[in-house]
Amino acid sequence: MITAHNLWKHYGDHTVLERINVTVDEGEFITLVGASGCGKTTFLKLLLGVESISRGSLTLSGEPIASEPGPDRGIVFQQYSVFPHMSVLENVVAAIGFRQPGLTGFLFGQPKKDAEELSLSLISKVGLQAAAHKYPHELSGGMRQRLAIAQALMAKPKILLLDEPFGALDPGIRADMHTLVLDLWRENNLTVFMVTHDLKEGFHLGTRLWVFDKPRIDPHAPEAYGATITYDLSTSRNTDVAFSETSP
Ligand SMILES: Nc1ncnc2c1ncn2[C@@H]1O[C@H](COP(=O)(O)OP(=O)(O)O)[C@@H](O)[C@H]1O
Ligand SMILES: [Mg+2]
Repeated sequence: MITAHNLWKHYGDHTVLERINVTVDEGEFITLVGASGCGKTTFLKLLLGVESISRGSLTLSGEPIASEPGPDRGIVFQQYSVFPHMSVLENVVAAIGFRQPGLTGFLFGQPKKDAEELSLSLISKVGLQAAAHKYPHELSGGMRQRLAIAQALMAKPKILLLDEPFGALDPGIRADMHTLVLDLWRENNLTVFMVTHDLKEGFHLGTRLWVFDKPRIDPHAPEAYGATITYDLSTSRNTDVAFSETSP
């Protein structure tokens, strides 16, 4: 589904990513770990299409990734910017406007009703049904991330990009979020890329875990070389998936 071939990303003289060669199948759950500043978010931005590659190729279903976000890709950041003056329901409905070119976020009549219906079903899927008419300041951190996930799912993406989405949450709430993300992944046949700084979380959630690291370092020019995928590991969840798929 996604192929990177000798992919490089520079910002001016700063090489952030280098020589990334990787293929991802539909339905994989990739977790990305690596030191702060090594280019994990940059990699997600390349997938999302808000940053462009410097060298090599990055393709989605054989086509170069569009240089702008498309409805096939949804993203959740650690701190998501929801509209503070809009309710949970209004925030999710508004997410449709961002995904459709030419649509400014204002819907009327039947399209509005349809959008609200879809929003409410997503809101209950992420467990926020009792909070549909609350405002962001009335939500806990975990509820806000649930809202962000509902927004990202609004355009029915095939690929979900999660950038340390649970980094700011308490451990107990994180466990609930893990269940939610795994359920959504399975139910919607999503391909997931999730950055985490928690190696245990990475192994627990992913079918495959990537370690980003710099194979070469010049102490006199720290920005001369970039990070690449130094380890590409199949996790036990991957074995579970393969086993259940091949079992009668
Ligand atoms: N728009 C940008 N312009 C210049 N440098 C950037 C830009 N975005 C990220 N960088 C640099 O690229 C490197 C990787 O950043 P990032 O992908 O955010 O790392 P990570 O997510 O792994 O912590 C950092 O050194 C960062 O300063
Ligand atoms: Mg980052």
